[in-house]
Amino acid sequence: MVKARISVIGLGFVGLSIALTNAKKKISTIGVDVEKTKIENLNRGIPNFFEPGLQNYLDESLEGKHIEFTTNLGYALKNSNLSFLCVGTPPIKDGGINLKFLKKALKDIHKNLEIKKTHHLLIIKSTVAPQSTVNLVLPIFKDLINKGKVDVVTNPEFLREGSAINDVLNPHLIVIGEYDKKSGKILESYYRQFYKTLPEIIHTDITSAELIKYANNTFLATKISFINSLANICQNLPGTDVNTIAKAIGKDPRIGPLFLQAGPGFGGSCLPKDISALIDFSNKFKRTNELFKAVLSVNQNQPMKVIELLKEFNVLKKNNTVSILGLAFKKDTDDIRAAVSIEIAKLLLKKDLKIKVYDPMAIDNFKKLFKEKIVYCSSIDECLKESECCLILTEWDSFKKLKPKKFKKLMKKPNVIDARRILDPNKFLDINFKAVGLGN
Ligand code: UGA
Repeated sequence: MVKARISVIGLGFVGLSIALTNAKKKISTIGVDVEKTKIENLNRGIPNFFEPGLQNYLDESLEGKHIEFTTNLGYALKNSNLSFLCVGTPPIKDGGINLKFLKKALKDIHKNLEIKKTHHLLIIKSTVAPQSTVNLVLPIFKDLINKGKVDVVTNPEFLREGSAINDVLNPHLIVIGEYDKKSGKILESYYRQFYKTLPEIIHTDITSAELIKYANNTFLATKISFINSLANICQNLPGTDVNTIAKAIGKDPRIGPLFLQAGPGFGGSCLPKDISALIDFSNKFKRTNELFKAVLSVNQNQPMKVIELLKEFNVLKKNNTVSILGLAFKKDTDDIRAAVSIEIAKLLLKKDLKIKVYDPMAIDNFKKLFKEKIVYCSSIDECLKESECCLILTEWDSFKKLKPKKFKKLMKKPNVIDARRILDPNKFLDINFKAVGLGN
């Protein structure tokens, strides 16, 4: 293959991480996005979200001149031979996904590739329902594919927010969905340039690759809802602890230890959206999605289980103050999309409680949603002061070091609920302590 020059279309978590890791490896990279301010900021070295390592990668990529950011799609396509399409496919109300951005991007890409003289490989990274590529993408590019000018492959992404850069650099697997061997081989040879040692690659048909993405996220979600269901049983069984159960069953190699951490429910821009989309998609096949529906329903009820712990402390009274530590949907991100903190804050506001919140990264995003309805604090101490209950909702490392004496000293009443299981219950015996999945 000729030396890869890539463009990345859509600079969210996936797109920007792919763009910067390529630039860092000195692969000529052009990042494209329709948002002008985002592009201006990126060219000035300012990313529009927090992700560990991202700032360094951006600084070094700009310095090394291996990356440029533009809103000009035509320029990007002309000056690259391979494009990763990473535009968002956000959720819609009925559980499906909004293909508006994808459709617009595909039309614009087609228009520009029509006038391009050399071959181009279009790689679909955006998460789309099974058969979307066959029914939507391929018909648009049919003429160019037939002329041998363009090839299209699907190549789902498994990176996680909070470790996005590392996940791009060290994937457990690469899935290439292809309609013929030639198109898949082009992508494979790009990956040979990108990785010193080629990760495992599975070649599939296009639709299977799309389904693999949903299957992966839905299985992870299933593990979480499974352990949260057990956590809810443990809470009623004195002496039990869901962490012990998880540890034991996780030793069985058929089960495995990961994604068995009980908590307030899964959030983020992927798991809830993808399982809803799979339910929506499989609605057309009779009785195929009962399990997925149950997984989602367990997750939707989980914030209420946390509220029930608050009830046990008898703090759900008008004008009482609840301190929430952690707003991001998980640690090491400022992302609050579908974060449980949103649901819980809404439930507490409904009950006329006062809410104080602290998060090392996500305060600004939370402010945009709740404005002056809650109190935003700039430290853990400020957040705990004068409050009747502390609720830990994100597993930030700085919260893991908390000691009982801090709660005793600062709070009006030292009632602590660890919804993330980051504190050792045995060290909190002399204050009022409850935790998800801990029998009492
Ligand atoms: C998820 C998948 O893990 C990635 O493989 C996938 O590429 C990505 O979605 C995507 O589709 O783009 P992400 O949403 O970044 O990644 O976050 P996860 O680490 O999967 O966590 C999702 C939620 O589950 C978080 O709220 C987390 O706190 C929660 N979780 C995770 C648990 O409650 N318990 C666990 O044991 C693990």
